[in-house]
Amino acid sequence: MTKIIVMTDIHITKKRNKIIGLDPMERFQNAYTSALRDHPDASLIILMGDLTHHGRPIQYQRLRDALHNCPIPVLPMLGNHDIREAFREVFTDAPADEAGFVQKIIDLPHHRLITIDTKDGPFGHHAGRLCAARMDWLRAALAGADGRIPLVFMHHPPFKTGIIGMDNINLENGDDVLDLLAQDPRVHLFCGHIHRTISGSSRGVAWTMFKSPCHQGVLDFLDPDSSLSVDEPGAYGVLLLTPDGVVAHSQDVGFTHEIQRDSGSATH
Ligand SMILES: [Fe+2]
Repeated sequence: MTKIIVMTDIHITKKRNKIIGLDPMERFQNAYTSALRDHPDASLIILMGDLTHHGRPIQYQRLRDALHNCPIPVLPMLGNHDIREAFREVFTDAPADEAGFVQKIIDLPHHRLITIDTKDGPFGHHAGRLCAARMDWLRAALAGADGRIPLVFMHHPPFKTGIIGMDNINLENGDDVLDLLAQDPRVHLFCGHIHRTISGSSRGVAWTMFKSPCHQGVLDFLDPDSSLSVDEPGAYGVLLLTPDGVVAHSQDVGFTHEIQRDSGSATH
């Protein structure tokens, strides 16, 4: 069974710059160390965008340094807090399609992994969009799956979550993207951006999203402020790829994992 680690919304800042009092590098290191310790058999780590907080080369360099000598291949993606040019300056060997978008296809025996670049517009424009070229790329990626189960990764969700501050900056042409994905009922979609663990389905597409290793979104369905954050435990995702599908686990980090047996019961 193939195992994949997923981390989204790392938001690396320059040294000593914190987000709601949290150090994103320290939080990332906690998650990264925990993932490598507990899942050394993972075959890939996918970083699902918002690699940095401001898209600066120094921030990408800090992340690159932190990943130095990683024993597991790392596949980076972009989010709204990233700047494609600055990212490529530092991650010179990162995947890119012919048009320069940071996206990639990986074929496994039973699955096709498709990572997509949903970044749109200049820094400060936080909604995402798949332009016509990327829609064509995605269409071809799905069509070429050759019987494999498509697992699609994109930073911006193409659906609403009820958290209106973030729904206002989701994927602008989400319905078109969902309708394309829904053509294969086996597609599972993974997203970031919201900084919360959520699952559901939209227009026939099943999806899962994960928390950030750093600051989390707030479960507030009324406040339109997209910057609302809370210091809940960080987390990363663990995907188990089975021949007939995928299982998505979320693992919290940053507190003591003391495993205990409940002597009064044989099970949970
Ligand atoms: Fe983010």
